[in-house]
Formats: sequence, structure tokens, C-alpha cells
Amino acid sequence: MSGATLTIGDYQALVSAFEAEAMPAIAGADSVDALEAVRAKHLGRAHGWLRTLSARLGELDRGDRAAAGRAFNEVRVRVEDALAERQQTLAPAREGGALADPTMPARHSWAGVVHPVSQVLDEMIAIFRELGFTIALGPETESPWYNFGALNFPADHPAMDLHDTLYVSDDVLLRTHTSPVQVRTLQAYPPPIRVLIPGNVHRRDPFDASHAPAFTQVEGLVVDEGIGFADLKATLNHFARRFFGAAKTRFRPSYFPFTEPSAEMDVVCGVCNGSGCGVCKQTGWIEILGSGLVHPAVLESAGVDSERYTGWAFGMGPGRTALARHGIPDIRILYDSDVRFLGQFSR
Ligand code: DAH
Repeated sequence: MSGATLTIGDYQALVSAFEAEAMPAIAGADSVDALEAVRAKHLGRAHGWLRTLSARLGELDRGDRAAAGRAFNEVRVRVEDALAERQQTLAPAREGGALADPTMPARHSWAGVVHPVSQVLDEMIAIFRELGFTIALGPETESPWYNFGALNFPADHPAMDLHDTLYVSDDVLLRTHTSPVQVRTLQAYPPPIRVLIPGNVHRRDPFDASHAPAFTQVEGLVVDEGIGFADLKATLNHFARRFFGAAKTRFRPSYFPFTEPSAEMDVVCGVCNGSGCGVCKQTGWIEILGSGLVHPAVLESAGVDSERYTGWAFGMGPGRTALARHGIPDIRILYDSDVRFLGQFSR
């Protein structure tokens, strides 16, 4: 112990004493300012404990210095961590607590809103999920076969015309509806199938009050053994009751190449309750969706045995539903991202 004036035991006692004093002081500091005073006293550069302890390392025997340094560092880290943690706890109190001026005006908080079309879509998905439907997605660029051919469109159908459909090349187009995902789903999974297919579709339409060249659709598809029109009606009536409240519905015969028979479903206008108004164009009814029993040719083109399996499908536009629900007269406003419009739809 040549020349040492401090033993390792004494040094460790000093370090422990420092920790025993600093920790309760930190825990007891009840404001950011009080904590700052504790920091200055114990860890301050000028005459804090830390400085003293590191200076006194020099009084130890050389052989003991490494062990003493380790003890010193361990305690320093623990004390600094405790300070940082206490700082975190106390800092928010400065704004909201005793230091805040209660007469200051509150800060305006800008919250985003879910777009009214997405709100409608979310609600639709939630209702069908309860019935055991899962979500299926497909590509927005499609082949003419998936978009038309596999869906039993005759080769000369006008929808396939350049006039109505946006072609990327001879054999790639922007899908005009979500129905091609029916075929993709049937190819990918064996029945029983119960899927909901949301997605964007494109048409070569003018952008006016009632048309948009790109919009959202939701497709539904159910395929299993023994599925019939009663399943279609019961499910869609249930959806209408859940989505529109106690709305009355009616089914009108219609035509789609990929369903047979086909029907369009209307719900009684929620704005006038059926008496006729501007929103329902004086008819008392709002057209909600197209539907029908899946055409056997569609099942066969997807490789599904149409003798064994049957199904039903529907397609609807949440954009139109949002317009009807809120009595919005012009579809273009849904695309404007105008915060004065969107701000009205916070939930
Ligand atoms: N694909 C049709 C359209 O875009 C909508 C539709 C109608 C989908 C009837 C269906 C259906 O699945 O059964 O106009």
C-alpha cells in the first residue's frame, strides 16, 4: 500500500454514500427546477460529488484504481439514469401544471378526418365481416380476359370498346370494375367462398357532376354448394337494414353478362322517406347495387364445377352511397380534398 491514503473499502463507502444521498433527492424533487438544483449539487462540474469522487481516485493505491473506477462508473450511470427518468416525468407538468398560465388560449389541434367515401367503405366492410366475409384484392391493371372474357362478356360487347375502356396496351387495360377479382379469387381458393372486394376502377367517362373517370367499387362474391337467390336477397336486405337503418328495399330485374338472373337493389330514399325529392330524382328510391346469381360460364372459366357449385355476387359504389347519404349534389367535390368540405365529416 505504498503511499496510498485511501483504501478501496473507504472509496467504495464514499461511492455508496453518494448514491444513498443522491437517489432520494432525485426521487423527492417535485419540479423541474428542484431537480435542476439536485443535479447541480450532486453532479455539477464545479463542486459536485462526482467531481470529488473522480479526484479522489488519485489517493488510491494504483492496483485498486481500476476496481474503484468501475464502482464509481456504475453508480454514476445509475444516478444519471434516475435523473433523466425524473426529468421525463416532471417535464410535461411545466406546460399543463402549476407553471402554465390558465388564461392562455388553448392551442388549436388539427385532426385529420377519414374521407366520407372511406367511412362508407369501412362501414360496409364491418357489416359483411360480421357475416363471415373476408377481404380479397386484385390488380388495377388487368387483361381483357379477366375484365371481360372470363366474365361472359360477348366478344363484341360495347364496354370493351376504346370508347369506354382505358387501354394501356392491346392486352392491358385499367379494370372497369372489381368483378375480375371474382375470377381471380375463384382460381386461387376452393369454395366455400365469401369475399368482399374493395378497389378502384377506371372508365373513360367525362368528369362531371355525376361521373368520374376513377372511382371506388365494392364487389361481393359467395360461392358454395346449394346457394340460391334467397341467400342473395336475405344477405343484401340484412346489409340494407344495418347500413341504412330500417330502410325498405326493392329488387328490379336487370342484366349483367356475368350473372343470371340479375337484379338491381334500391333502398327507399332516406332524405324524403320515399315521397320524392331532389336526391332521389322524385322517385322515392335510391339505386344501391347490381347483383345476381353467378353465371355458370363465369364459374367454368375460373375452373369451378358449375354443376356442383352455385353462387351470387353484387357490386356497388361507396362514392354514390356517400353522395346519397349526405345529399351531396356533385360527385366532383369528393375528389377536391377541400378541407372545408372534409372537415364536416369528422367522427
Ligand atoms: N360490375 C358491375 C358494374 O361495374 C357491377 C356488378 C353488378 C357487380 C352485378 C356484380 C354483380 O358482381 O353481380 O357495373
